[in-house]
This record gives sequence, C-alpha cells and structure tokens, in this order.
Amino acid sequence: MRITLKLATSLDGRIATASGESQWITGEAARLEGHRLRAAHDAILVGVETVLQDDPELTARLPGRSVDQPLRVVLDSRLRTPQTAKLAGENTLILTVADPRSVGAAEVKRVEADEGRPAIPAVLKALKAAGAKSVLIEGGGQVAASFLRAGVVDALEWFRAPILLGGDGRPCVASLALAKLSDAPKFRRLGVEPVGDDLWERYGRL
Ligand SMILES: NC(=O)c1ccc[n+]([C@@H]2O[C@H](COP(=O)([O-])OP(=O)(O)OC[C@H]3O[C@@H](n4cnc5c(N)ncnc54)[C@H](OP(=O)(O)O)[C@@H]3O)[C@@H](O)[C@H]2O)c1
Repeated sequence: MRITLKLATSLDGRIATASGESQWITGEAARLEGHRLRAAHDAILVGVETVLQDDPELTARLPGRSVDQPLRVVLDSRLRTPQTAKLAGENTLILTVADPRSVGAAEVKRVEADEGRPAIPAVLKALKAAGAKSVLIEGGGQVAASFLRAGVVDALEWFRAPILLGGDGRPCVASLALAKLSDAPKFRRLGVEPVGDDLWERYGRL
C-alpha cells in the first residue's frame, strides 16, 4: 500500500495555533491541490483530535468534476468521534481499540492495540481489507508521528504558507523519540513549486 503524508503548515512547521485553530493556514490554491490529492487516493486518514477540533467533511471537492470519494478513516482509540460529526456517515471507517458501538452511519472496527491505540500494522491491514491501495494521511501531528515512527510513509506532500506560528503552535509531527540523528526518517526532494502564496514541496522516502 502506498502511504502519503500531507502537511499544510506554517514556515516553522506548525499545523495550528496553541488553541488548535488551523483553518486556514494555507491559501485557496494549495487547498485545491489538497482536494486533487484526496481524489487521487483510495482512503484519507486523520486522528480523532482533528475530528474534534475541525469537524472535517473529509471529502474530495473539485469544481465541475464528480469524484469517486475516498474512504474516510479515523483513528479513535476510545470512540470519541461525535455521533453528529460531519464524517460520521456512509463511507467512513472508524478504527478503535474499544468495544465497537455505532457512531452515526460509520463502520466501526476494533483492531489490535499498541500502547492503548490502534497499532499501525493493524491499521494498514484494516485498510487493505477495505480495498485501499493508497492512503493520504492528513494529520494531525500525533497521527503523522505514529506513521513516521512505524517507518511506513512513502511520500510527503508539504504545503508551506508564508506565516510563522511559533513554538507554542501545534507541531506537524509530534514526538518521534529519536535517540540519534541517524535514526531520523529521511526523504529525497522530488519537486518544489509555488501554489498561490504557498510553496508545495514533494518528497519521496530514501
Ligand atoms: N494544518 C493542517 O493541515 C492540519 C491537518 C490536520 C489537523 N490539524 C490540526 O491539528 C490538530 C490536531 O492534531 P493532533 O496532533 O493534536 O491530533 P491528531 O493527530 O489529529 O489526533 C491524535 C489522536 O488520535 C488518536 N489516535 C488513535 N490512534 C492513534 C495512533 N496510532 N497514533 C496517534 N494518535 C492516535 C489519539 O486519541 P485517542 O487515544 O483518544 O484515540 C490521539 O490523541 C488540530 O488543531 C487540527 O486543527 C491541522
């Protein structure tokens, strides 16, 4: 399965202010590219904090084009996704380690745990079982860090806006618990292009 991590950050790599406000860091042109990326993947995945903070629809919306909607996936250990969340409908898979119960019309599946949260290998297995061959990880920082720590991220699609949010802003990648610089996940730059006022950087795993 091909795993792509999409980041929309400030110049200093923050995805939200300390209070969690993130809409919108990047401009309209970058967000349109974000929708194109969604449309090009079989599944889009976020952590439950992103659902609680942003209540995203997590659909691919392209002007003048109808799109086969990717599967919406939420990592939600304790089933905190509200019944009323915009994505708690058809075409949504919630992966949990709790006893499954209904969350709107979403499918809820229990998977193996790693330190009380859905284990990444089990998440990938569930995505494969759902027929996904590609997944776009859309954050937030904790989920990004889990996939990077598991060493399964093939590509980065990084939209960087010309603003600074400072050290109290939320990091685009939470702790990787690296002991040595040589343990850091490494990528090769594949391209850089301006989109509106933002910069779109693309990286592949080394
Ligand atoms: N700028 C952007 O493009 C962008 C994109 C997305 C989000 N955001 C912002 O980012 C913030 C949320 O990011 P965040 O880092 O706080 O949270 P997050 O990554 O969205 O969600 C983290 C939560 O997911 C759950 N989870 C379940 N399994 C997990 C696993 N294997 N690894 C990691 N987490 C797992 C955990 O809660 P449980 O233990 O309860 O399950 C964890 O607290 C919001 O402010 C949002 O607005 C910005």
